[in-house]
Amino acid sequence: MYINKIKLKNFRNYEEEKIEFDKNVNIIYGDNAQGKTNILESIFICSLGKSFRTNKEKELINKEKEYAKIEMVSTKEDRDIKINFEIKEKKKFNINGIPAKRTSDILGKNYIVLFTPEDITILKNEPSKRRRFLNIMISQLRPMYVHLLNQYNKTIEQRNIYLKQIKYESKPIDNLSIWDEQIVEIGKKIYEYRKEFIEKINEKILDIHLKTTENKEKIKIKYISNIRK
Ligand SMILES: Nc1ncnc2c1ncn2[C@@H]1O[C@H](COP(=O)(O)OP(=O)(O)OP(=O)(O)O)[C@@H](O)[C@H]1O
Ligand SMILES: [Mg+2]
Repeated sequence: MYINKIKLKNFRNYEEEKIEFDKNVNIIYGDNAQGKTNILESIFICSLGKSFRTNKEKELINKEKEYAKIEMVSTKEDRDIKINFEIKEKKKFNINGIPAKRTSDILGKNYIVLFTPEDITILKNEPSKRRRFLNIMISQLRPMYVHLLNQYNKTIEQRNIYLKQIKYESKPIDNLSIWDEQIVEIGKKIYEYRKEFIEKINEKILDIHLKTTENKEKIKIKYISNIRK
């Protein structure tokens, strides 16, 4: 898979821009604050449906304008995929001219890996950073995983609402188990997906790391979870 071109309209500091990419390696260089990361951000949005820099999506629209558009064309297995993104009041996606019902519909169309200097936080910071990284990677490969994550978060939310109802409305505490059971069920599935992904990564990195360290170091990633079977 490779990205052919990207068209930007009123996106960040770009009013109108068309960029064509080479099939192989592309190097984007320039002075500070010229818009290099903005280009990466536009690719990320067309692949994962959201920015890696902001949750406030209005920020993506050029300060002087009312709306922003991105069009990205990529080729996968000899077929072109066109993703259109538009943001005005709300954001909208089109996949090959057909409106996407949900943002998650665009996942898996383009496989991307973003690596920035901040990614060192995956190793250094708290586990939630590592989970986020895993979520981004697995979501692209397994649409079902996105569905599970949404379900998991919704169930936690409902459980929290019920906890308040126990406290303030004297609802029976026994009913809490309804949510607990669901959380366990969904959590188990999420765990399996993550475990599988890490096993696959391990197969790949072992060789790469042996080569780069001239057979001196064996690398292995361990998934430590508090799930007990
Ligand atoms: N909504 C917006 N409207 C107009 N300009 C914007 C908007 N959001 C960001 N910018 C501009 O985009 C520029 C930053 O772009 P970007 O972060 O891509 O730069 P960069 O080339 O990656 O720089 P560096 O080399 O420092 O990483 C800044 O000039 C900033 O003012
Ligand atoms: Mg930058």
